[in-house]
Amino acid sequence: MSQSNHDAFWMPFTANRQFRKTPRMLVSAEGMYYTSDDGRKVLDGCAGLWCVNAGHARPRITEAVQKTIATLDFAPTFQMGHPLSFAAADRIAALAPGDLNHVFFCNSGSEAADTALKIAIAYHRVRGDASRTRLIGRERGYHGVGFGGISVGGISGNRKLYGSLLTGVDHLPHTLDMERNAFTRGLPAYGAELADNLERIVALHDPSTIAAVMVEPMAGSTGVLPPPVGYLKRLRDICDKYGILLIFDEVITGFGRLGGTPFAAEKFGVLPDILTCAKGVTNGTIPMGAAIAREHVYAAFMDGPETGIELPHGYTYSGHPVACAASIATLDTYAEENLFERAGDIAPYFEDAVHALRGLPHVIDIRNVGLVAGIELESRPGTVGARAYEVFDRAFRQGVLVRYTGDVIAVSPPLIIEKSQIDQLFGTLSDIIRAVE
Ligand SMILES: Cc1ncc(COP(=O)(O)O)c(C=O)c1O
Repeated sequence: MSQSNHDAFWMPFTANRQFRKTPRMLVSAEGMYYTSDDGRKVLDGCAGLWCVNAGHARPRITEAVQKTIATLDFAPTFQMGHPLSFAAADRIAALAPGDLNHVFFCNSGSEAADTALKIAIAYHRVRGDASRTRLIGRERGYHGVGFGGISVGGISGNRKLYGSLLTGVDHLPHTLDMERNAFTRGLPAYGAELADNLERIVALHDPSTIAAVMVEPMAGSTGVLPPPVGYLKRLRDICDKYGILLIFDEVITGFGRLGGTPFAAEKFGVLPDILTCAKGVTNGTIPMGAAIAREHVYAAFMDGPETGIELPHGYTYSGHPVACAASIATLDTYAEENLFERAGDIAPYFEDAVHALRGLPHVIDIRNVGLVAGIELESRPGTVGARAYEVFDRAFRQGVLVRYTGDVIAVSPPLIIEKSQIDQLFGTLSDIIRAVE
């Protein structure tokens, strides 16, 4: 039986006991703003959780969801089909760069990561290269919370409670180098050579054992680490040299977040073999994720007897009709309002605004690309994250929602943000950063 102090909901990635003492509750949302339970407007500085790229309560998406749930509330996609899943996949494939043409649906970024990793290992196996089973991730990488994602991911706090994880996983070093790159605007100049660590890893394990490398083109959840200039291209070249698949996790970077292009792959001119997305694919309205495979990856599976299931993988809700309808309406909204271009156009203003925080107390780095920024604060001795938590909590009380991770404040507003709202966002943060100890 539930108790009156609301302790039935075991909250994810939350200090549950602290939260219950000082709750932060949201009750409605529209455009750039949430409303809190005490009736205050709260500027959404992080697109919910990096997902509401078109802003909240967009009518086209709401209508599509309402209509679909009344027409086709559910339909299986195992050995059955419904038109919305094919239409949504076509639309997503059309948006994805190069020949990333085959969309495997799931329900979250975590599932997308695990799906991509499974496809990568299976790809080598169906081609007769069964010894290629190792997966290479990167320190500080975040690929959700499935066992594949936390194993290949490199956030120690998300791994340490969960035993031995997947075997056969190794990690590249992360790319944060504050000594050389602090306060860089856009991509850091130094660090492309960090990709060469893949050569060392390949030499150690032998290329014949390695299936795939998975990275976020811009690491988001760990605290906004844009890739050094040339780094991703070098990773691509080394993967090509050794027949290793390259997977980009674009769960955050997808759908215009970096400005100008739908995906980071295009923005950085590097085409992965598999690209994962989620979040912005439905503007955060209905859970959905996808692993998108290039032609050669898909083709490798389409070789056996036609009656055989090529990939024994899938979720009850893969290609759920309501999620597919939400996705199509979301992509329409992005296109009608040119939101990816808009994000690129307003990014320089956003960049100037965040870098104006340089010189404030405790600010030791500012990093940004597109409509994402990370403001790194010096940690209080012995209590990593305490200072950033205080900034985050005060910001909410003062009408601005941001994220924090460790002592990095992360900002990633909906792509519809206006200049005056950018001023409000960073003006509020500036006042608070001055005030916290
Ligand atoms: C890069 C990346 N991959 C995967 C995920 C996991 O997504 P989800 O929380 O939808 O499982 C996230 C979530 O923030 C992410 O940033």
